[in-house]
Amino acid sequence: MSQNPAISFHKSVSAESGTLVVLTDETLNFGAETTGLGIAELFRKAAGTADYKAKALATLDLLAPAGLQFDRLIVVGLGKAEELVEGDWSRLGGAIQGALRKGEQATLLAERPDGKPISGEQLADIGMGAVLRAYSFDRYKSGKAGKDGENGKTSKGHVKLDIVGSEASKAKKAWVARSAIAEGALLARELVNEPANVLGPVEFAEKAAALEALGVTIEILTEKQMKKLGMRALLGVAQGSVRPPRLVAMHWNGSKSKDKPIAFVGKGVVFDTGGISIKPAGGMEDMKGDMGGAAAVVGAMHALASRKAKANVVGIIGLVENMPDGNAQRPGDIVEAASGVTIEIINTDAEGRLVLADALWYAQKTYEPKVVIDLATLTGAVLVALGSDHAGLFANDDALAAALSRAGDVTGEKVWRLPLGDAYDKLIESKFADIKNTGGRHAGSITAAQFIQRFVDDGVAWAHLDIAGTAMGSPQSEINRSWASGWGVRLLDRFVADNYEG
Ligand code: BES
Ligand code: MN
Ligand code: ZN
Repeated sequence: MSQNPAISFHKSVSAESGTLVVLTDETLNFGAETTGLGIAELFRKAAGTADYKAKALATLDLLAPAGLQFDRLIVVGLGKAEELVEGDWSRLGGAIQGALRKGEQATLLAERPDGKPISGEQLADIGMGAVLRAYSFDRYKSGKAGKDGENGKTSKGHVKLDIVGSEASKAKKAWVARSAIAEGALLARELVNEPANVLGPVEFAEKAAALEALGVTIEILTEKQMKKLGMRALLGVAQGSVRPPRLVAMHWNGSKSKDKPIAFVGKGVVFDTGGISIKPAGGMEDMKGDMGGAAAVVGAMHALASRKAKANVVGIIGLVENMPDGNAQRPGDIVEAASGVTIEIINTDAEGRLVLADALWYAQKTYEPKVVIDLATLTGAVLVALGSDHAGLFANDDALAAALSRAGDVTGEKVWRLPLGDAYDKLIESKFADIKNTGGRHAGSITAAQFIQRFVDDGVAWAHLDIAGTAMGSPQSEINRSWASGWGVRLLDRFVADNYEG
């Protein structure tokens, strides 16, 4: 899974036919090698006719270009070359892939018109963008037989891109990590896109357990084991489902040190009906994606292990299904979480925080992490506050918040910090128990975060990412055309790379 043979890097153009992709910018110039192909005159004519200005990622498509051996020439704009930032290279790869037909083989001559070299990392980012863009979830489209007769069995698209650049040998090295990250993101998308009848808690746990092949240590807790540990917050959610819950711990020990691991904790509600506080029918099908946090954690662990990250990281996911049933939990019920905190259930649809409460407890008591980051499709309120362009970030530690914001900015998986505080914490005080699981109509994302913070041990740096707006159904981008975005995999990977490795 780690190497995608469909992307390859070369020092010079070897193809003599097929599709050639070249780069220009708002000066409408080409680099030296591109100019040497003798396309400048042809391009200038076509650009004039089409009023092509080489704005960022704008393409000009020349079919059967006269005087060239290539069948198709695609010119892609870089906009103002001096303004390019890191994320632009993967977006460029996405735009290029988007200009190609499914499975169309192409050669990209990656050369800047301003003479600056495109680094190996940037070339690898182009490849990553192309792989991310090519993904579509077609598995259940029975009519969609691929040319190779695979009949919708793969969702990975068919990328065949030869990337030519002066830094090709460095790009090959950088690609080991980039392809691992892309695979991790695609794995997360796949888990979120799969319907709940296919991926219940047990099946999801099996997918996570497959990381064992990459050297990840896997531990799976069954219902019986969780009962013994007193995880009654998580179990209360699961009790309305005929499908038993699971808790999975994935441990990657990539650092030579004995450092305590960073912990990623994910909400894995394979389907959220709301339980007895049942949700309205409209749009309920989207709740198959209520395990986007768990999917991001699995995808990130996949990326880290597959690129052999030099860091110690543990991923913990709580997997349940939230169903209404004769045995389901009721509003008014009081449960005791494994940490000893008692919780009054006001609304059975505020189930994610109950799952996280026990998953966080387990992560902290088992692995003693100094840093814990949880990810959860936790509240509709975060969509009201931030829409789909930023995930909500909550943290008890400014340095951790800053590090996550930085990782978000460079990967394009952006986060926006929202406040925590005693005044909000008061809103979850319960008449009958220590806390209640909802905080009323206002500040819904914040009171949910306050609830989770009640399960964070003293001295632990903690951040919570509410990804209800970003994990699925977010606007289509240059690097994602799928309902599930795989949000968080690239962010977490980058956070580890920049803060814990090297
Ligand atoms: N899974 C939902 C949150 C959600 C909403 C995710 C929309 C993705 C898209 C969560 O379990 C939930 O139902 N939250 C409630 C909390 C409320 C009952 C306090 C909500 O947001 O309405
Ligand atoms: Mn819910
Ligand atoms: Zn939910």
